[in-house]
Amino acid sequence: MSNSVLVRPARNILGSLRVPGDKSISHRYAMLAALASGRSRFENFAPGADCASTLGCVCGLGCTVEQDGRGTVTIDGLGPRLREPAGPLNCGNSGSTMRMLAGIVAGQPFTSEMIGDESLCRRPMKRIIEPLSRMGATICAADGDCAPLCITGATLRGIEYRPPVASAQVKTSLLFAGLLAEGVTAVEEPSRTRDHGEVALRAFGAKVDRSGNKVTIQGGQTLHPLEAGIPGDTSSATFFLCAAAIFPESNLVIDGVLLNPTRSALLDVLTALGSRISMLRVEELHGELVGTVTLVPGEGEAVSIAGAQTALLIDELPVLAAIAPFTAGGLEVRDAGELRLKESDRLSAVTQNLRAMGAELEQTADGWRIPGNQRLHGAEIQSLGDHRVAMAFAIAALRAEGETVIDDSKCVSISYPGFFEDLEKLAER
Ligand code: S3P
Repeated sequence: MSNSVLVRPARNILGSLRVPGDKSISHRYAMLAALASGRSRFENFAPGADCASTLGCVCGLGCTVEQDGRGTVTIDGLGPRLREPAGPLNCGNSGSTMRMLAGIVAGQPFTSEMIGDESLCRRPMKRIIEPLSRMGATICAADGDCAPLCITGATLRGIEYRPPVASAQVKTSLLFAGLLAEGVTAVEEPSRTRDHGEVALRAFGAKVDRSGNKVTIQGGQTLHPLEAGIPGDTSSATFFLCAAAIFPESNLVIDGVLLNPTRSALLDVLTALGSRISMLRVEELHGELVGTVTLVPGEGEAVSIAGAQTALLIDELPVLAAIAPFTAGGLEVRDAGELRLKESDRLSAVTQNLRAMGAELEQTADGWRIPGNQRLHGAEIQSLGDHRVAMAFAIAALRAEGETVIDDSKCVSISYPGFFEDLEKLAER
């Protein structure tokens, strides 16, 4: 079976949809369920390969994990002390699994080996190795930075840490380690990142404090199990919201989607780009806001994204860049050097694929300048095995002239296995 997908142009995006459970929350719930004593149960657990990697690792650490194939996952947690794995913990393509779980195994009285695929083995791990080592763990890595990691846990000591990069994975890893440590752990981020680690810890019964950009946790707290439904993934919804924003006659409704303010900056950007967005039926589920989003497009102005806003939009930038040529005013992105360190070098991947479609743009050291009002043609897109690149260009392809082929499209199953089916349901031709 070919691994490429053909995407034809569309006239419109019309209809309503629910997207799969949020990946960031699913990872965190599964990891914390392992540390709670008793059975946790989650509905709408993220279906992609990344969260399956986390479940595999949790299983490898001695917890019983059951899945019904329809999004319900139960995990029998062991409390703060997990079991020594019989083999390596395979994190697959998932940086979240490796970085956040490293914080947990660092506090266990045994050695864990963490492995990953080729892309994950290229990604920087020093950002967690350095602080977790300061807390007392012994960690070996290729060139001191990359997977495979060999982590010998210890009785950790709380530290006060200021990560040099804004990273929710690093913050969460240190909060998880801090939960298992003696004393207090404080993480002060250079700019605000998604707060699902803090919110999830509280949902499992831990006390976590925040003051400005500083988050603090007292070690030795015990967790209780949790029964929860997981809101739809904002970053998955982004693809369809961006698609709807570039067709004047679109009308899109997304139900049950996560509206956490540290994840919904995209709605502000789409509003500036001219869309009219409403949030309806907003409720709180275990500290996370969830509701319905509706979008009707319109013509807006040029948009510039930089600094703290870039950090909050880090997973949304590839698709925003991919639709930028179709907007009225274009898009400028700055301070996005972190994009080079994702599943692929997303800065270059977006530039290369936009140019293949005939777009004019400038790639800078840490972003792009992309003029609006352009006409693009269909092309052969190289996903580079990166799920967000594949999905971003499936969206750009809807407004291109002629057909587009997305190579290596199966990678969408990392976060959104049903993506192309959902796209077909909403795209009017
Ligand atoms: C994530 C944080 C972000 C994001 C990733 C998921 C998380 O990574 O890109 O997809 O769940 O905490 P960084 O922490 O490396 O910015």
